[in-house]
Amino acid sequence: VAKPLLPRTAELTRYLDRIDGAQIYTNFGPLNAQLERIFSDRCSAIENHAVTGANATLLLVAAITKLSDKRRGSANKVIVPAWTFSATAQAVLQAGLVPKFVDVGLESWCIEPSDVSQHLDPDVCLIIPVIPFGDIQCLKSWESFARQVDIPVLVDAATGFDGFHGSSLPTVISLHATKVLSSGEGGVLYTPDEKFADNIRSFISFGFAGTNKAESSGLNAKLSEYHAAIGLASMDSWTKRRETWVRIKNRYLELLGRFSASGRTPMESPFASSVFCLHCSGGEDADSLAKFLSSKLIGSKKWWGESLPKHPAFVRYGNIPTPNADLLSRQVLGLPCFQEVTDAQIEYVADSIRVFYG
Ligand SMILES: Cc1ncc(COP(=O)(O)O)c(C=O)c1O
Repeated sequence: VAKPLLPRTAELTRYLDRIDGAQIYTNFGPLNAQLERIFSDRCSAIENHAVTGANATLLLVAAITKLSDKRRGSANKVIVPAWTFSATAQAVLQAGLVPKFVDVGLESWCIEPSDVSQHLDPDVCLIIPVIPFGDIQCLKSWESFARQVDIPVLVDAATGFDGFHGSSLPTVISLHATKVLSSGEGGVLYTPDEKFADNIRSFISFGFAGTNKAESSGLNAKLSEYHAAIGLASMDSWTKRRETWVRIKNRYLELLGRFSASGRTPMESPFASSVFCLHCSGGEDADSLAKFLSSKLIGSKKWWGESLPKHPAFVRYGNIPTPNADLLSRQVLGLPCFQEVTDAQIEYVADSIRVFYG
């Protein structure tokens, strides 16, 4: 269903030669600095600082820890969507806090400010909206919501690389091999606040701040120069990669429109996504479709699995009903989506879905 294609050896050589020359392999070396510069230069909407890290999950842990530093009294709950990838809630637990699952919108696949405002009890110290599958359009509504409440908002835009061009909110993007732009493993945190960027850099480097004295709590979550090399080489071919992601998505949309549940889905956003998900129409269950596709030798995947309150790790935190998350987790299925998928393969998938629906 996914078949990551990262830069080939020949595309990496010029960066690897630079690592050999400098003999700097990690600890915010020159390739990292170059990658951070390229990432921050993409921010045309609001100037942002970019901090690279080992992966998005650890950058989320860093940001959650730092943003909840000054929380009031015993407030220890973090609002997260009831349907997202488990990393969002795992990061909350790793930061020593507790997830509070709020239902997502049936069309947005994201928590929405109007729902969240009903759950802003005094025990809430942070809100983490998740950008679903590259559809970063909801960012604007979170920026204006954050101006109205005095609780920090951190955006998990793990899949949002293409559409992100700067925000007033701290935002974390994943550079995992399955993402539209990858460094193999890796992540980038964006923030307009230079001091916050420095705090994150310190947190992901043992709490150091220029010396080897641990000034505050921290861990090691730096991006190695080798991973930065892959990120830089991926950026060299970004325009072509992006075009391919968008073409695949548009072809699926053209062919599968009538099998998609009514209403808009995040797949209709104009941004590149390395995942194409169908929200099965007619109340069809994604598992039945997956089984049928498998009989036609077509792979598929429910990317986020069950809604988070149903995962054993989180079951004790799920005390708000989340019917939309439960429904979407049953009805949304990821279809084959990778750089080398051919038009003929996409048509075969669409034909098979047509047969499934009779
Ligand atoms: C919504 C979301 N958050 C966080 C992550 C974690 O990213 P990483 O693998 O870089 O830690 C992912 C990964 O797919 C994700 O989809």
